[in-house]
Amino acid sequence: MRKKIVAGNWKMNTGIQDARTLVDGILNDLPQLASHQQVVFCPPYIHISRVNGQIQDSGKAQVFCGAQNCHDKASGAFTGEISIPMLKEIGVTHVIIGHSERRQYFAESHDFLKSKVDALVEAGMQVIFCCGEPLEVREAESQNDFVAQQLKDSLMHLNAEVLQNQVIIAYEPIWAIGTGKTASSNQAQEMHAFIRALLATHYGEDTANEISILYGGSCNAANAAELFACPDVDGGLIGGAALKAETFLPIIQALS
Ligand code: PGA
Repeated sequence: MRKKIVAGNWKMNTGIQDARTLVDGILNDLPQLASHQQVVFCPPYIHISRVNGQIQDSGKAQVFCGAQNCHDKASGAFTGEISIPMLKEIGVTHVIIGHSERRQYFAESHDFLKSKVDALVEAGMQVIFCCGEPLEVREAESQNDFVAQQLKDSLMHLNAEVLQNQVIIAYEPIWAIGTGKTASSNQAQEMHAFIRALLATHYGEDTANEISILYGGSCNAANAAELFACPDVDGGLIGGAALKAETFLPIIQALS
């Protein structure tokens, strides 16, 4: 059975005290997670050690701490960057790669993303690989080709075993991120089914059926249950609604 996951992408938000209060608030009221369900916090780098400490102290299983980015090199003269061994050392298990904000504001190329994916896989980490089209591509009805290309360029060189064990895909239409304009459950299901069919063509149905595909983009307490009820939507990558326990907890509760 494939994993059902809710991951919180805090982006560049929260100070130390806010982060502590947020994690405590979520962990204190966390519902009992079934064995196939997971929760991942992706705070800013500087909070990771503390958040991991809180998770450990809570004794909650199936709750993980992820990072929002990483560099592909293990060390070196890359001012301001953070490497995978550094993240691993402080207990990071998951890393978001290819978020549209990284692609757009930091000009991260398909090749750079591919190289990060390879380095993460090599380090035994979980990759949360983001894909998704801008509004003009959706309006031109070319979203399937666009997303397929993103997956082919940076992800689908991996073999089936690695893909199955170490990759989570997050479909995040750019027009829905932070805009309050969620994709309808039909739009989400259509794209998720397309991605799974693409994976099935390359890797076979058994592998494709094991890959978790999360939806992201204005997913919130009010729409999570409908989105997660779609057969190919396996949870969510949550931005704004991950910043408050009272908006994040109902999204976790919506996992099936
Ligand atoms: P949002 O962000 O939930 O605030 O739209 C999602 C994301 O960018 O991962």
